[in-house]
Amino acid sequence: MSGAAPMRRPVALITGASAGIGAEFARVFAQHGHCVVLVARRERRLHELADQIAAAGQPRPHVLAVDLCCNGVSKQIAAELDALGVEPQYVVNNAGFGLLGAAAELEPAEQLAIIELNVRVLTELSLAFIDSLGRHRGGILNVGSVASFLPGPGMAVYYASKAFVLSFSESLHQELSAQGIRVTAVCPGVVPTEFQARAGMKKMPGWKLLHTQPADIAAAGYAALMQGQRVMIPGVANKFVTFLPRILPRGFLLRQVARSQFNRHKSASSP
Ligand SMILES: NC(=O)c1ccc[n+]([C@@H]2O[C@H](COP(=O)([O-])OP(=O)(O)OC[C@H]3O[C@@H](n4cnc5c(N)ncnc54)[C@H](OP(=O)(O)O)[C@@H]3O)[C@@H](O)[C@H]2O)c1
Repeated sequence: MSGAAPMRRPVALITGASAGIGAEFARVFAQHGHCVVLVARRERRLHELADQIAAAGQPRPHVLAVDLCCNGVSKQIAAELDALGVEPQYVVNNAGFGLLGAAAELEPAEQLAIIELNVRVLTELSLAFIDSLGRHRGGILNVGSVASFLPGPGMAVYYASKAFVLSFSESLHQELSAQGIRVTAVCPGVVPTEFQARAGMKKMPGWKLLHTQPADIAAAGYAALMQGQRVMIPGVANKFVTFLPRILPRGFLLRQVARSQFNRHKSASSP
């Protein structure tokens, strides 16, 4: 007797789960009963998080310690999931980083690495599991930024990478809805994580109204995905910022963003 192969157990694949917003996404998905697969390079951190989630009485997450920027990473992840007898119901493309500084002064190779992770890997993982996302009526949660809506002198490549995330995610939202697959871009403002140190900022930007905690981003992003929302911008102040490009002249906007990044640079070089 022949028939369709049995569906593998559904999981939520979360990239960048060893720190910051990604670790909180893992907690939120686990709290809602999803079996979670934690992806990042720092294996010990991932196991510690898996232990915490299991200790809270939720299904023990699987740990995949991989560098997402290695060639063929989606095939490697697919093979590892296959060996575990699971397949993605949700993909959370959260891993990402930025660099503060003038594009002409930062290392070109480091800036290309931003595009590699924030754009190429996010695209590869968004497209790699469409069949299983459809089978489980799941979805894709891509982490953009308020930067997705603005030009970003002072963090030019990072802002451009996040503009891609928003545009790509909105298009996927439209294209995949017929297959019952939800796609959401969550676009935070400033979130206190390791992101700022990695970007070369020594101090958080001063505008507290734009700050949101990682756990709040994760909860809001999860809710938006489950509701099938296309774009989620946490907080009224952040929503206001994303509205500015519609009403302000582009040249004025460029000068304001440049000034604010320059101030972050001054903060970065102060003790
Ligand atoms: N923090 C903010 O203010 C802010 C605002 C808007 C948007 N975002 C976005 O939110 C997302 C998460 O950022 P975050 O603030 O939580 O930053 P974070 O604390 O620095 O965490 C970044 C995560 O990405 C992982 N990662 C980096 N490179 C990787 C690689 N090559 N392979 C595998 N994993 C890698 C890191 O893990 P390992 O180092 O262990 O590999 C870490 O788990 C990013 O896309 C960021 O652009 C952040």
